[in-house]
Amino acid sequence: MTRTVDVVVIGAGVAGLSTALGLAATRDVLLLSAGDGSTPWAQGGVAAAYGDDDPLDHARDTDIAGAGFCDPRNVRALVEEGPQRLAELIAQGARFDRDDDGSLSRTLEGGHGRCRVVHAGGDATGAEVHRALRSALRLTGVQTMDGRTVGLVKSDSGRIVGVLVESGPETIRIDARAVVLATGGVGNAYLASTNPPSVRGDGIALALRAGASVVDMEFVQFHPTALFTGETGGQLPLVTEAVRGEGAVLRDLHGRRIMAGRHPRADLAPRDVVAREVEAAMRRDGSDHVWLDATSIAPAVLRRRFPTVLASCARIGVDLLSEQIPVAPAEHFLCGGVRTDRNGATDVPGLYAVGEVAATGVHGANRLASNSLLEGLVFGRRVATALTLDLPAPDHGHSDELVLEPDPEPQRIRAILTKYAGIRRDGAGLNAAAGELEPLGAGPLATVARSIVAAATARQDSRGCHWRSDHPHSDERWDEHIVVRLDEDGRP
Ligand code: SIN
Repeated sequence: MTRTVDVVVIGAGVAGLSTALGLAATRDVLLLSAGDGSTPWAQGGVAAAYGDDDPLDHARDTDIAGAGFCDPRNVRALVEEGPQRLAELIAQGARFDRDDDGSLSRTLEGGHGRCRVVHAGGDATGAEVHRALRSALRLTGVQTMDGRTVGLVKSDSGRIVGVLVESGPETIRIDARAVVLATGGVGNAYLASTNPPSVRGDGIALALRAGASVVDMEFVQFHPTALFTGETGGQLPLVTEAVRGEGAVLRDLHGRRIMAGRHPRADLAPRDVVAREVEAAMRRDGSDHVWLDATSIAPAVLRRRFPTVLASCARIGVDLLSEQIPVAPAEHFLCGGVRTDRNGATDVPGLYAVGEVAATGVHGANRLASNSLLEGLVFGRRVATALTLDLPAPDHGHSDELVLEPDPEPQRIRAILTKYAGIRRDGAGLNAAAGELEPLGAGPLATVARSIVAAATARQDSRGCHWRSDHPHSDERWDEHIVVRLDEDGRP
């Protein structure tokens, strides 16, 4: 069975929904999804500059968190267009928390020099953003379909002209003039992640298989405070940075402050810095977790601001109000991805990427807290505008179906990546990873894992969330981006 539309958008998180909504009035759009992605799980908020001077400060904080490796023009688009996208989202019905005077409540998170993070439901911002965008989408003619995208269709002229979707027992081909990847990150390529299981790097694998370049794959961000549930893997509950924004502190097993004296912003240092210090504390103590101590914060504030975290804690029998809670780092966000321009175009005609799967350079080597929902809103609109103004012409020539192979041993791949390409890496471990991944096929997880290992091996310095213990300093000889493409055997 074959269907034809103008644009297929793959992924129903903030980036995919924003793209589909932006196109709804002008194009025939199909939104494909295999789950809701990471958006509903986002807690902290949306970083949005306010006042005349804040875009500049927000850009500076973004670049500092990104270890000076951000693309300044794209960061400018992010911080300058962000407030307008937020205002539109509110006009579409998103309900953000407000202070007594009716103004938006704004909080602090790691790496931010001022309170600019707006939030909803206390710590359920992603769920509210997702709800509002989905409700708005229901008022449009955008069609939706559940199913995993297992391949792209490429014409002899080198253009992406469709997708292959597993829907129930069938694989359906959908022809389109443009395909937008909005598939999120690579969480499930690691054993433990804050992302849901459906987020496993399929978009990266699809793009590579289609001949696109991916870039900055070594910059995998680990959130310092996933709740340590005792589970060794799977999706771990997030404990939002905003808890530290309200005054909570990290302690090692001996009760010592982990971040005191380690960075001028202490517990509110950028996320890569905090994650590294937590990992070091765990290694020193031979422990699988550290403690987050929020007991100095008034219980009423914790109840109002963090109902989701409180509920997660209650599920494992700990009480955020009166005791320290166990936390450990977990994979959280891919800062690199499919290389795009500022309007989402990849280097393969007809193929676009937006949100976490895309690398626009706005995150540099380490994403600033709460810039991810913002990225989806801003760049989703930019892709939609570009495809409204200029949709590729139909291509009815001969085409090939580029289908992803299944991964024979997904759990083994996750274990290898977790062991050798986590927060702390070194050349010997990365070589071992490459060897152990070698026999594990050319499925999407293997492709993603090899891309991360290849990029992390190539980059022989440390910056942002890429930390090489054998090259512990940033080195200007590596002030270039590591680009990964597949060879004829499907290997990066
Ligand atoms: C958090 O709430 O700590 C996560 C927000 C983000 O990933 O930016």
